[in-house]
Amino acid sequence: MSHQYTAAVIGAGLGGRASMAGLSASPRFNLVAVADIQAEARAAVKELYPSVRTFPDHAELFAACPTDIVCVSTWPPSHLEVTQAALQLPLRGILVEKPLADSFSAGRQILELIRARNLPIAVPHGLLVADHSTQVLQRVHGGEIGELKLVEIQCTGWDIINAGIHWLNFFVELTEREPVEYVLAACDASTRTYRDNMQVETLAVTYAQTVSGTRVVMNTGDYITFSEQIDDTLFRLIGSRGTIDFYGWEPRYRLLNASYPQGQMFEFERGPFVLHQRHLENLAAQMDRAQPDYAIPEGSLAALELCEAAYVSIRNGSVPVPLPLEDFTPPSPVDWQPGLPYSGQGGGRNGRLLPPHPQQIDRPVRNAQSEEA
Ligand SMILES: NC(=O)c1ccc[n+]([C@@H]2O[C@H](COP(=O)([O-])OP(=O)(O)OC[C@H]3O[C@@H](n4cnc5c(N)ncnc54)[C@H](O)[C@@H]3O)[C@@H](O)[C@H]2O)c1
Repeated sequence: MSHQYTAAVIGAGLGGRASMAGLSASPRFNLVAVADIQAEARAAVKELYPSVRTFPDHAELFAACPTDIVCVSTWPPSHLEVTQAALQLPLRGILVEKPLADSFSAGRQILELIRARNLPIAVPHGLLVADHSTQVLQRVHGGEIGELKLVEIQCTGWDIINAGIHWLNFFVELTEREPVEYVLAACDASTRTYRDNMQVETLAVTYAQTVSGTRVVMNTGDYITFSEQIDDTLFRLIGSRGTIDFYGWEPRYRLLNASYPQGQMFEFERGPFVLHQRHLENLAAQMDRAQPDYAIPEGSLAALELCEAAYVSIRNGSVPVPLPLEDFTPPSPVDWQPGLPYSGQGGGRNGRLLPPHPQQIDRPVRNAQSEEA
């Protein structure tokens, strides 16, 4: 029988409960303690898991009940503080919820601290372990829809940082982590919506393109009107030789290509909480061999950079934000109103007389080989 690791969860909301369910369902773990600042959340845990010890904060839990792994499942702004405290324990592994933190720099710091300990980490992006979406990744990487040109995402009831990071993480993996040239985003924030302790947009469009030109266009916000009858999320992948549509967590996708010229729906079984369990069991496997694999956390950090670049773009009047984000210097505000008649005065340049952009010469082409095959 494989070694069973003891586990604690900090934060007993939706994310924490997904970890608790995954830990309890897995023979690889023994869930022993949970901390939450809210008494009602602790009471709900006691009802579900009577033998689990509960604590009002992470410091008390860590002092009284150190465990082999800790799941950091609080809201993003406290991920760094809770992770730093957890790293004082003789941990064997750690799960840090997406987004790794509320900012790219804090997320990077978390990953650096964990790497410095050579500690295995899980970041539970469900699409990276779900049956339908992993098959979508394989088909795209295998060239089944040709060269990936465009990823369109529509998602209602959510925002760029909280759910959008899952979707942008999937874009990062679809493009095999190809560097992103820039991110450009616009939003309305008139309703002053917050979610998961973060100020978020009412309605937003996030646009990014990789160096070879693959684009993502993501429409998020409190209420999105969909282009077709769907529940909450739509992905549309457009390739040079086909398309794939899927619906976020719904365990199905539709493929249209030369092999399925009428389109074919592929359907899968859905298992409750199975996705966190899969990430946790992958973490256990890394812990067994004491060999961390940082591929998923690095992809998650790349997605966090895209999320923050979108918000930086918005904060600066929807300017393009080239990556890496740390090199970005906000431009000075410009007195120019696109869409108004040009008066013939006040400077400017004639857009009909522009020389070609240097980057339009010798652009890299992604998947050039599979395109020729
Ligand atoms: N991977 C996934 O599929 C997934 C799904 C849901 C949530 N999440 C992530 O989980 C994290 C939490 O979100 P949620 O949906 O569970 O939010 P939530 O509002 O449902 O619950 C958060 C819980 O954390 C508690 N909490 C907050 N700060 C705390 C602290 N410092 N110490 C102890 N407890 C604290 C709150 O009291 C609350 O009970 C977020 O990062 C979110 O993105 C991930």
